[in-house]
Amino acid sequence: MATAPLARWYATNGRHALPWRATRDRWAVLVAEVMLQQTQVSRVVQVWDAFMAQFPDVDTAAAAGPGALIAAWGRLGYPRRARRLWETATYVAEHGWPADLSVLPGIGRYTAGAITAEADDADTVALDTNIRRVVERVHGRLLTPSEADAGMRALGGRLAGRERLLALMDLGALVCTPRDPGCEQCPLHDRCATRAPLDGERRARQAAYKGSFRQRRGIVLAALRLAPTPVAQLDGEALASLVTDGLAEVTGAVAALPGGARSAQCS
Ligand code: ADE
Repeated sequence: MATAPLARWYATNGRHALPWRATRDRWAVLVAEVMLQQTQVSRVVQVWDAFMAQFPDVDTAAAAGPGALIAAWGRLGYPRRARRLWETATYVAEHGWPADLSVLPGIGRYTAGAITAEADDADTVALDTNIRRVVERVHGRLLTPSEADAGMRALGGRLAGRERLLALMDLGALVCTPRDPGCEQCPLHDRCATRAPLDGERRARQAAYKGSFRQRRGIVLAALRLAPTPVAQLDGEALASLVTDGLAEVTGAVAALPGGARSAQCS
């Protein structure tokens, strides 16, 4: 199967030791996914165990009251998530788990899909920004939501549900990164429309490219392809030259692609 390399790559390189991956308990997975919505993995790792020790199930969390969850949230940021987590625990303690988890406070479509895939191994697709980037790069263009869902399923190959989600998530986080994709180590390299070619000639060209003004422009453009970005975070000289060429626009303190469009191509 064309995508067996993804399964092999994931078996060897996946982030299997992340503590929330050792459980299939819905509440524990839900807490991790809510923490990971807006906080980096490295920071969530520091608090998830202690939070779960304090609130091991929905009944304990519901009975503790919102203040206890907010206090235990510590410095994860966006503390409204802790309040919503308590509301979710209260709902589930009273009514049980709803069929559609996205009716729960603070649980959107992605988080609902991720929880059922991870906890129940449901064959749901859930595209976070990392997975969407991987799928769109393989296709070489932006995809509609239904195309992206189908693309995620197709890329999984023989992987489904939980394994497909986590393999693609890890590939996006560790290899197919926004700015510096490690195309040479990518298990999807052979089927990727956006890949960097590997032949020697191209490597020599890449060496000349490294540190060049073209590369600086490419870095700015890659950031703008992902999202409008504060000018202060960008290389000003490279941005100015992109604006001159009609490749970027600055409105107030924010730079964006002209007309706000974005593209999935690697630069
Ligand atoms: N493992 C399960 N869900 C995750 C996520 N959203 N980010 C990183 N690792 C995860």
